[in-house]
Amino acid sequence: MVISSALRAEIEAECARFPLARGAMLFALHRVQAEHGAVTPELAVELSELLEVRPIEVLEVVSFYNMIDASPGGRHRVRVCTNLSCSLAGARSLLRDVEEHLGLECGQTSDDGRINLGREECLGACGGAPMLWIDDAYHECIDLERARELLDGLE
Ligand code: FES
Repeated sequence: MVISSALRAEIEAECARFPLARGAMLFALHRVQAEHGAVTPELAVELSELLEVRPIEVLEVVSFYNMIDASPGGRHRVRVCTNLSCSLAGARSLLRDVEEHLGLECGQTSDDGRINLGREECLGACGGAPMLWIDDAYHECIDLERARELLDGLE
């Protein structure tokens, strides 16, 4: 698994915008995850060269942020925010309903590899609580009916 030449060029261009290449760390992690489904240790080593840091520094950031995965999950990342505002708006019961609907528990991936389910801390969309995050899209003020429509529409 290697970072594509197109993505390498994109990351290098982003690095050039900062006094230190490492300033492009989060941008690069998101883009590598979008290309490979995760930032594996192997990819972290490759990325460290672009960012001019040690591999452990990339891995530290990967392990800090929930939204960056170190190993590939399902084709679709589904996350229910269960932080305060979303919980007050029903996120915990929404999560239980989503788990039941999918037949999965948080942290699990469906047998067909379609969906990886998890919970998330505040995603900065508290005004739209409860919030469901699917791949890169925020779905706000979500209820179970809408959640089911979205989940059933994932291929
Ligand atoms: Fe859910 Fe802030 S608490 S987005």
